[in-house]
Amino acid sequence: NVLIIDFGSQVTQLIARRVREAGVYSEIVPFQSAEEAFRRLQPKAVILSGGPASTTEIGSPRAPQAIFEAGVPVLGICYGEQTMCAQLGGSVEGGHHREFGRAFLDIQDDSPLFEGLWAKGTRHQVWMSHGDRVTAIPSGFRVIGTSTGAPFAAIADEARRFYAVQFHPEVVHTPDGGRLLANFVHKIAGLKGDWTMAAYREQAVAEIRRQVGTDKVICALSGGVDSSVAALLIHEAVGDQLTCILVDHGLMRKDEAKNVVAMFREHYNLPLILVDASDRFISALEGEVDPEKKRKTIGRLFIEVFEEEAKKLGGADFLAQGTLYPDVIESVSFTGGPSVTIKSHHNVGGLPERMNMKLVEPLRELFKDEVRELGRELGLPEHFIGRHPFPGPGLAIRCPGGITREKLDILREADAIYLDEIRKAGLYDAIWQAFAVLLPVQTVGVMGDSRTYEFVCALRAVTSVDGMTADFFHYDMGFLGATATRLINEVRGINRVVYDVTSKPPGTIEWE
Ligand code: XMP
Repeated sequence: NVLIIDFGSQVTQLIARRVREAGVYSEIVPFQSAEEAFRRLQPKAVILSGGPASTTEIGSPRAPQAIFEAGVPVLGICYGEQTMCAQLGGSVEGGHHREFGRAFLDIQDDSPLFEGLWAKGTRHQVWMSHGDRVTAIPSGFRVIGTSTGAPFAAIADEARRFYAVQFHPEVVHTPDGGRLLANFVHKIAGLKGDWTMAAYREQAVAEIRRQVGTDKVICALSGGVDSSVAALLIHEAVGDQLTCILVDHGLMRKDEAKNVVAMFREHYNLPLILVDASDRFISALEGEVDPEKKRKTIGRLFIEVFEEEAKKLGGADFLAQGTLYPDVIESVSFTGGPSVTIKSHHNVGGLPERMNMKLVEPLRELFKDEVRELGRELGLPEHFIGRHPFPGPGLAIRCPGGITREKLDILREADAIYLDEIRKAGLYDAIWQAFAVLLPVQTVGVMGDSRTYEFVCALRAVTSVDGMTADFFHYDMGFLGATATRLINEVRGINRVVYDVTSKPPGTIEWE
């Protein structure tokens, strides 16, 4: 395995992903706990990430000295290169020559790092983002690549298997970067690249069996990819010791609860209890306009219903959750302050403390795309795996203004038609998330010579990588026109359709 020491770069996670894409398991740890992690994990190679600090500042972060003395290969990236140089006897200078964005690397010499990739004398696009630069390299190192702004853009000490680069091989703007990282783990560290989802599945199943023993597990199934994959994996491990509970809060998409239940009961024979709590949720939400109150009410009721069901089952020792790796990685914070709450997200995260159960989180080492891969491995159908994300509070946060049953019905119908059009146009996979929003305003229209006075439906579609930032999807106007016509013709209660062209930021993906 490979240990990645995080110095706070925005793109550290990408290093882990590239290494895993090369078939090698990798873990990220913050620099503060790197020493302990290095001892515990005994990695076969170490990568030092970039970061916002400057090695010229007093108290700036360093890699544990022990990693340089253990005989393992080390690759420093950006800040990682700088701290490596500072720690091994080179020097770094505060930025006179800052370099941001696209740059070109001139290969000065052949190296195992560039094998099969970049030959001496050639030039390649890389992506830079640094203020400081290395001005002298430690003894034992030689220069293997230069750029206009960085005379030590790539350096190597082949005897000790230490390598460092000023650019970021992990980002897509360094087109060959993934292969360069693969060279480091395969050719330099000698790792095989046999970490596959099939292997992961076996390991995870064994680990769940060991953890759970003969105890009972319950799992809140939402119909989303994460909780579904977690449930299937646990079911494979402990069979009917697992019970899944699907709480239908009346805020799901059209036929969603029905379809999810059918799939899991029929195809997987998974013990699943469907709780229809829609009346309870809708009554509590009726007339509520404040988005935060909606979210909190839904979260609270969810916990209540889940607890009641768990009690009926005679309790359980374990609670299964589909927590993913990005939620687990301790982020490196230099400012220390808590970030502001934009929205109170509802997931099952509030449960464990209150319920006093132990957690089973078989996906906590995986990224989203790896979970999808595991889902495929477990035989989940492709259309299920590629589904757009759907928020826990469901349609409630797509119905600004007071919620009523009537409005939810209109929205559910509109959403189904909109998604149907997207699928028919072959656009579903090009879009990260798409949905309809029912606005609390009515406008005047004319249909069949009569006056109408009905609601406005807003359509949203975004592209995104992780939901943190997003761009609105650029539809063809013909598609929007045809979809609007169908919505107005087929959904009673809507007589006008608008398209949301806001990116995130400044907007958020959901409207509430
Ligand atoms: P926003 O609206 O914050 O959404 O830009 C980012 C992504 O998160 C989803 N989302 C949620 N998911 N519980 C969830 O499980 C929630 O409370 C929640 N709120 C937003 C949203 O659909 C988008 O994919």
